[in-house]
Amino acid sequence: MSLDLSVDLQGQVMVITGAGRGIGKEIAKMATFRGARVVLLEINQETLSKTVAEIKELGGDAQGFQIDLGNESDIVATLSKIESEYGKVDILVNNAIAVGSEALLDTTTAEWDLTMRIVVTAPFLCIRQLLPGMIASGSGNIINMGTVNALAMIGSDAYSVAKAGIHAMTRSVAVRYGPDGIRCNTVVPGSIATETWNERVKQNPQIFDDLKPWYPIGRVGKPSDIAEAVLYLASSRSEFMTGTEMIVDGGLLAGPAPMFKTMGA
Ligand SMILES: NC(=O)c1ccc[n+]([C@@H]2O[C@H](COP(=O)([O-])OP(=O)(O)OC[C@H]3O[C@@H](n4cnc5c(N)ncnc54)[C@H](O)[C@@H]3O)[C@@H](O)[C@H]2O)c1
Repeated sequence: MSLDLSVDLQGQVMVITGAGRGIGKEIAKMATFRGARVVLLEINQETLSKTVAEIKELGGDAQGFQIDLGNESDIVATLSKIESEYGKVDILVNNAIAVGSEALLDTTTAEWDLTMRIVVTAPFLCIRQLLPGMIASGSGNIINMGTVNALAMIGSDAYSVAKAGIHAMTRSVAVRYGPDGIRCNTVVPGSIATETWNERVKQNPQIFDDLKPWYPIGRVGKPSDIAEAVLYLASSRSEFMTGTEMIVDGGLLAGPAPMFKTMGA
């Protein structure tokens, strides 16, 4: 175990889905600062190329693969290619999402299916593809991106249902494959200011300020808040942690802050 944060992921091959922007991009960037070789999977070629170029300019070891995580054969072909090119995958971060309508009654069947496909089926397929290699090598580390929406009703109904599935998948993988040297954890972010909020920001440019009263820490999150947690779970510094939910939410789920203030308590 290395306590030197600049090398604690030295030589580790880390695959990150949905890494062209937002939290995935920040994880990729920060992981290379700690010596990881990052492989970015992304559907958007433009953001993918830009992010890979940015990381390389900073001196990081990064490669991008354009992929549609909704397509099983695309996942199998891309991950097999990565495994044979790098010889191994040490860390998988299931981060990509697709989000449709907010409310259940507005959700079309196609939106529901796409959300399930990208949020829960794609992580299952990535895990199923990479686990045999990890088991054969005696170690593997899987980090699933969850959400506070999976633990309390905060909106985006189909997305919340799918995310609850990934929280459960973490427990299954951790318990079933722990004896094979596999760790699996969920990171549970609160509201994080990324491009995924663009539509909401268009409707209410003050939305992040309006959300502040719900966050005891006094602000919404930034991508680096989540990337730090992911890097900790990715490193051997967290070697006794598996099957858990690491909540990184500025205190949101600790209690309904506005209610406590209303009560004057
Ligand atoms: N931003 C938040 O407030 C927040 C809160 C809780 C949890 N999270 C979780 O953090 C993770 C990252 O969130 P974000 O805000 O950075 O999201 P984002 O929407 O900014 O990024 C998601 C990325 O996934 C890519 N993607 C979408 N469909 C794809 C497909 N079919 N194939 C390949 N790539 C695809 C997108 O192009 C995008 O680059 C997600 O798992 C999300 O659920 C985010």
